[in-house]
Parts: sequence; C-alpha cells; structure tokens
Amino acid sequence: MIRWPLRLRIRRLVADDAALWRDLRLEALANHPEAHGATHDDWAGRPLTDFAESLGAGCILGAFKGDALVGSMALDASDSRGEITAVYVRADQRNKGIARRLFKVLRREARGSGIQCLSLTVAETNLPALRFYESVGFHPTGQPSRALARDGRLLNLLTMTMAL
Ligand SMILES: CC(C)(COP(=O)(O)OP(=O)(O)OC[C@H]1O[C@@H](n2cnc3c(N)ncnc32)[C@H](O)[C@@H]1OP(=O)(O)O)[C@@H](O)C(=O)NCCC(=O)NCCS
Repeated sequence: MIRWPLRLRIRRLVADDAALWRDLRLEALANHPEAHGATHDDWAGRPLTDFAESLGAGCILGAFKGDALVGSMALDASDSRGEITAVYVRADQRNKGIARRLFKVLRREARGSGIQCLSLTVAETNLPALRFYESVGFHPTGQPSRALARDGRLLNLLTMTMAL
C-alpha cells in the first residue's frame, strides 16, 4: 500500500484545541526552557481551562499534520506592533519548512491587523532559532541585553525586529 505524506495545514487554534495545545506547550517548555519566557513549572499544574483561555485571548497558530499538532507560533499585538512568541516545532518535524510556513501565515495575519513592526527575543545561543528568524527577514537590534535565568545560568537575549 502506498502511504502519501500528510499535508501540512496551518490554522488558528481555538478553545476546542486546548488539550492538543497543552501537550505541545508543555513539551516545548520541558525540552527548550531556554527558548521561552514561561517555564514548564508555571504551566504543568494548570487546568485545561487555562490553556483554553490562553487560546481565546490571543492569536496562536498551529501547524497540523493530519490530526496531530506539530508546531505553533503566537502573535501578541499591541497597536501597530506585534511580538512573536511560542515558536516551536516538534523535534521529529524540524527542517521541513514548518516554522517558515507558520511565519508566512502569521505575517499575513499581522499585516491584516494593521501591525507595522514585528519583534521577538531569542537566546543568543539558540542558533537554529536565530538562523530561522534571520532567514525570514528579522535583524538584531542593539546588543544582547536582558538576561534569562535557566538551570542556574544567565542567558543573554537578543531582540530582533522586522518592518512589515
Ligand atoms: C527554531 C525552530 C522553530 C525552526 O523550526 P523548523 O520548522 O525546523 O524550521 P524550518 O524548517 O522552517 O527552517 C527555516 C529556516 O530556518 C533556518 N534553520 C532552521 N533550523 C536550523 C538549524 N538547525 N540550523 C541552522 N539553520 C536552521 C534555515 O535557514 C531554514 O531555511 P532552509 O531550510 O532553507 O535552510 C525549531 O528548531 C524549534 O522548534 N526549536 C526549539 C524551540 C525554539 O528554539 N523556539 C524559538 C524560541 S525564540
């Protein structure tokens, strides 16, 4: 029997996706503590309703292969500025262009909401993420500054921006 590869679909997550979102989010926070402002401990004990509420409150995009949620990217908008957070692709799905596809949809959503500038922060040691952001048009602004404490170490964070 021939098995065709599952098509990737990108869509906005809604409250009904809360269980899928919780699994992906906790996996991301556990495996990449350096990549997120929140920690696994912040979210691990929370009820499903908290995850559903976070989906209702903002624009969180999910990448699906069949019914499986394999990646995410969120847009926090404030007037004409937008911040990108919750960037994550499951380890076995990386290097297939999924983050690039998520960003394409996020950029379209941002433009549609009147956002003129996107920003994000990334640990300066997180080279895959840095290369990804550079590849879609982000530039570092200034020197690494704000420090993030993880596993007893302080990580330098870079702020990156792009005009839309
Ligand atoms: C960063 C991350 C989201 C990239 O996701 P991905 O789906 O594998 O990325 P893509 O396949 O869309 O790659 C797009 C571009 O990013 C760059 N890139 C991605 N992974 C890379 C790596 N490991 N090394 C170097 N460049 C990389 C490349 O330029 C790539 O373009 P190319 O394939 O034409 O060379 C993923 O590695 C991840 O989830 N990391 C853990 C969580 C994380 O660090 N999040 C960011 C928090 S700030």
